[in-house]
Amino acid sequence: MKLITGLYGSTLGKKILMAVTGIILFGFVTAHMIGNLQLYQGAEVLNHYAELLQSNRLVLWSFRSVLLFCVAVHVLAAVQLWLRNRSSRPVRYRVFNPPAVDYAARTMVWSGPIVLLFIMYHLSDFTIGWANPDFVRGDVYHNVISSFRVWWIAGIYMLANLLLAIHLYHGLWSLFQTFGWDHPRFGGVRRWIAIAFAVAIGAGNISMPLAVLTGLVR
Ligand code: HEM
Repeated sequence: MKLITGLYGSTLGKKILMAVTGIILFGFVTAHMIGNLQLYQGAEVLNHYAELLQSNRLVLWSFRSVLLFCVAVHVLAAVQLWLRNRSSRPVRYRVFNPPAVDYAARTMVWSGPIVLLFIMYHLSDFTIGWANPDFVRGDVYHNVISSFRVWWIAGIYMLANLLLAIHLYHGLWSLFQTFGWDHPRFGGVRRWIAIAFAVAIGAGNISMPLAVLTGLVR
């Protein structure tokens, strides 16, 4: 127990926790996107898939609990690291532009909270149905189409998923650093791995609202 609290109390411990929970959340986002791409196969296939996921309540709630736990730890560790960073530099840089901190790294501070807000909206839209006046429980295909047909809702999804891709890109990059996979010789490979995953997730997720908005999927 002492080891765990000691580890959590250290900056490295928090970074390791962020990396481990990040990997689990990344796995979920990847699986979720692959499952959702069945939208292109029509209502029957997508609804059957959703029904399958919902059918075993014990498995469903176990997955939900793990996800919720990971989100809570990931956010808490991020906020604590951010506060610790700030308090270790009470007088802020006038111009803060160190070369190693690129655009994606600087956006982490706000892309994280925006993705979190998006998840809350997304759950109200497709899982609970509060934010979707056309919501029909069990008819996932209908719910997705009726939301994405509205330009500003499709816009929210596209923007949030663009930010998520940027967040994932930098998250993967940081993860390599945390685990010490940062040999300069492989810097290029690491960057390309992070870019490839972020682009694949971003493109897959953005394609869906775009396809409905343009009438490709009805
Ligand atoms: C365009 C992209 C996306 C589509 C079309 C989509 C679609 C859906 C649908 C239809 C559901 C409800 C499933 C059901 O009731 O059976 C759902 C649930 C969910 N989505 Fe997404 N989603 C997208 C992106 C995302 C992203 C980027 C995240 C996270 C960052 C996410 C996180 C979740 C979560 C946590 C749930 C609740 C799962 C549960 O029921 O336990 N989704 N999504």
